[in-house]
Amino acid sequence: MSLLIKNGTIVTASNEFVGDVYVKGEKIEAIGIDLNMPADQVIDATGKYVFPGGVDEHVHYGSFGALLFETSHAAGVGGTTTIVDFAPQDQGVPLLEAIRIQASKANNVASVDYAFHGIIMDPKDSVFDEIEHLPEVGVSSLKLFMAYKGTSFYSDDESILKAMMKAKDVGVTMMVHAENADIINVLQKYYLDQGKTDPVYHYYSRPPIAEEEATNRAIALAKVADCPLFIVHVSVKGAMEAIRSAYEGGFPVYGETCTHYLTLTTDYLAKPNFEGAKYVCSPPLRPQEHLDALWEAVQKGWLVSVGSDHCALVGGYEITKKKGLGNFAKIPNGCPGVQDRMVMLWTYGVCEGKITRQRFVDLFATTPARVVGLYPQKGQIAVGSDADIVIFDPNFKGTITNAESYHGIDYSPFEGFPIKGRPEQVFLRGKLIAKEGKFVAEKGKGRRLTCKPYALCYTYYHKDDK
Ligand code: URP
Ligand code: ZN
Ligand code: ZN
Repeated sequence: MSLLIKNGTIVTASNEFVGDVYVKGEKIEAIGIDLNMPADQVIDATGKYVFPGGVDEHVHYGSFGALLFETSHAAGVGGTTTIVDFAPQDQGVPLLEAIRIQASKANNVASVDYAFHGIIMDPKDSVFDEIEHLPEVGVSSLKLFMAYKGTSFYSDDESILKAMMKAKDVGVTMMVHAENADIINVLQKYYLDQGKTDPVYHYYSRPPIAEEEATNRAIALAKVADCPLFIVHVSVKGAMEAIRSAYEGGFPVYGETCTHYLTLTTDYLAKPNFEGAKYVCSPPLRPQEHLDALWEAVQKGWLVSVGSDHCALVGGYEITKKKGLGNFAKIPNGCPGVQDRMVMLWTYGVCEGKITRQRFVDLFATTPARVVGLYPQKGQIAVGSDADIVIFDPNFKGTITNAESYHGIDYSPFEGFPIKGRPEQVFLRGKLIAKEGKFVAEKGKGRRLTCKPYALCYTYYHKDDK
């Protein structure tokens, strides 16, 4: 099967030009001007953008009570052709076994290509000893949580430091959820004791300083371990500045933010009649000054990627979020967003002049692929890369509705948001999987990917010099 996409504006992380892309089988075989090789299908992309398929390096399918991979076709509809999921580890289950179990759940079910991060949820020496084997099973990143004390997700500083010291020896990228768990626990009780039970207290009990402090502590631990670091879902200015100043000081620390931290403020958590529960995720949504700082950071490269932190909780709002009625601390964390990442970033980033088209591609596809060791197979329109391609119609105008969302639950945090532009056709390895907001392929045809170690965060790290 061959495909020739003609006259589109091909956008990469560094440039753009009007040209043609020729796909043979699953790969991009040629890029140029006036290509005229015979093809089974020719698409005239005049007036459209041609982007690499998105790489969402922050999704939850199963962990935290999220739906499994049956709904991963939502990614494809939204222009994301690769997802990187966090494989949860049950108590007593070895880390590699946890990844094998999670991979078996995705096999023949995931509808876009997929890879995994490890999560350590049973922090002990035998588990830390497994870190060196992660690259052998195609996993090159590992997340530990400074938050969620009292649950199996939590790791103390000692565990994080031990994991970092193992990870750096084999080029595994350490990812940290940075929030100060003790501040959160004390403040949750403080507000609940006063009868302050509404969802907005999720924000007040997780103040910006709780994230800023933990981010600085994670950086300190990484410096002690001499281990590169990737801070996920950065939501506050102070945390972003901590990452920026560590990086500018020569230490390899990088950060991601997420669609909702760029586009939704704390006001959504304060919606009446418990509607705010729909927006409970951690870190919480922040006031506008943080959104402004994050937009500047993604444009200037102080934060390097935008994930969705997609977490479509089984039971959605009506059944699951409402478990927190009368106690904000019991509202399960997480929001869906894998389908909306591209249109939200485009509409509220590119169309509003906050980021360039090149930065958009970089944040949405290229750098996420680099972070997890999937580049240049993924995240790039280049000869030899997988033919994961989005033909994007910038003239489309519409509105996000849950009714048109494929994520499988009863609400969208972006309900009612006007959008400009949308992925008109989405190709996964040369095959059309989504068209004009509809999934059009057979489900379950995503393929497991192998992530290479010593990825982006190790770029300036020379193990032999240490
Ligand atoms: O609220 C969120 N973000 N749920 C998913 C878990 C996490 O910390 O990433
Ligand atoms: Zn997290
Ligand atoms: Zn997450």
